[in-house]
Amino acid sequence: MNIQENISLKPYNTFGIDVNARFFVEITGLLQLQRVLQLSAYPNRFILSGGSNMLLTKDIEALVMHINLKGISKIGEQDNEVFIKVMAGENWHELVLWTLERNYGGLENLSLIPGNTGTAPIQNIGAYGVELKDVFESCEAMHIATQELKEFSKEDCQFGYRDSIFKNSAKGKYIITSVTLRLTKAEHKLLTFYGAIEEELKHEHIVHPTIIDISKAVVTIRKSKLPDPKEIGNSGSFFKNPVVSKKTFDAFRKKNPNAPFYEMENGSYKIPAGWLIEQCGFKGKRFGDAGVHEKQALVLVNYGTATGVEIFDLAMRIQKTVKETFNIVIAPEVNIIR
Ligand code: EPU
Repeated sequence: MNIQENISLKPYNTFGIDVNARFFVEITGLLQLQRVLQLSAYPNRFILSGGSNMLLTKDIEALVMHINLKGISKIGEQDNEVFIKVMAGENWHELVLWTLERNYGGLENLSLIPGNTGTAPIQNIGAYGVELKDVFESCEAMHIATQELKEFSKEDCQFGYRDSIFKNSAKGKYIITSVTLRLTKAEHKLLTFYGAIEEELKHEHIVHPTIIDISKAVVTIRKSKLPDPKEIGNSGSFFKNPVVSKKTFDAFRKKNPNAPFYEMENGSYKIPAGWLIEQCGFKGKRFGDAGVHEKQALVLVNYGTATGVEIFDLAMRIQKTVKETFNIVIAPEVNIIR
């Protein structure tokens, strides 16, 4: 079983926060996962996957279970579609590359998102006009209390913007073990409307893009805006873009006619939190080793030795200033462990 003691979690979280796990175990198989969950000596457990969407602010006094289940397989196909089952511990971007090599379409806009496949449904990862839910077929998860595997359909998952059942009623009750995706084999549905992609394709003189062209464009755009966690610790967007009612939006727009916004299908409005934070003067600011990224104000960074508490304090300061300036509350999208 190899349960280790007092292990630094610095290599296991993309913020690069140096806290310790009291106990630590690598999970590489489903039977082993069941057995570990049955161990009565470790009643407190902490599930860790790619560590790309969490801020650790203290040592974890529990058994940290690092989900390292591997495997990608084609489990079916029909007409223009192919079904791919991916084990939870597979790195997301390596999966994207695997699908591109086989000309399976659907994940190209989601290129270069840090983290592992098993956590993608939790926050319904999204970028450049595509969300996981658009390619999601189902996932399997182990019920922690009974160790039974349960299948969740797309409807079961109750996906929303950076949201799912795993952040709500199923929170803390399941460990996602695999995800099945529904991708296209030919006649791919290309989504290039997202401004920056079109510009990037034009820049490369590409008129009839392939899914590989789109992936490359997304990679270029992301690299130009978002810090590489291997170089500067970060967790992607720290906050969600706030979604407000038409009434709130109208009042906001009157005072801020130049603010960018997206109108949502249900008539509410999404305002880019990065813009709000930049207007408050935080973009590129550094406080010790905690800071706000210079190219994208939505991303908080650890320049080296920041503690989780320092990043958290900065986040709260930003949240307070945005509220005082715009009367809009921005909520963290990162899972804060306090
Ligand atoms: N903006 C600013 N200042 C900034 C950042 C953004 O004014 O510092 C403005 C931009 O000029 C633009 C608007 O805000 O008008 C939107 O910016 P961007 O296209 O960079 O996207 P975003 O809304 O800031 C979201 C996702 C990202 C995703 C991009 C692209 C959230 C919380 N974030 O960011 O997701 O990559 O769109 O689709 O929805 C992540 O979740 O970790 C993540 C990086």
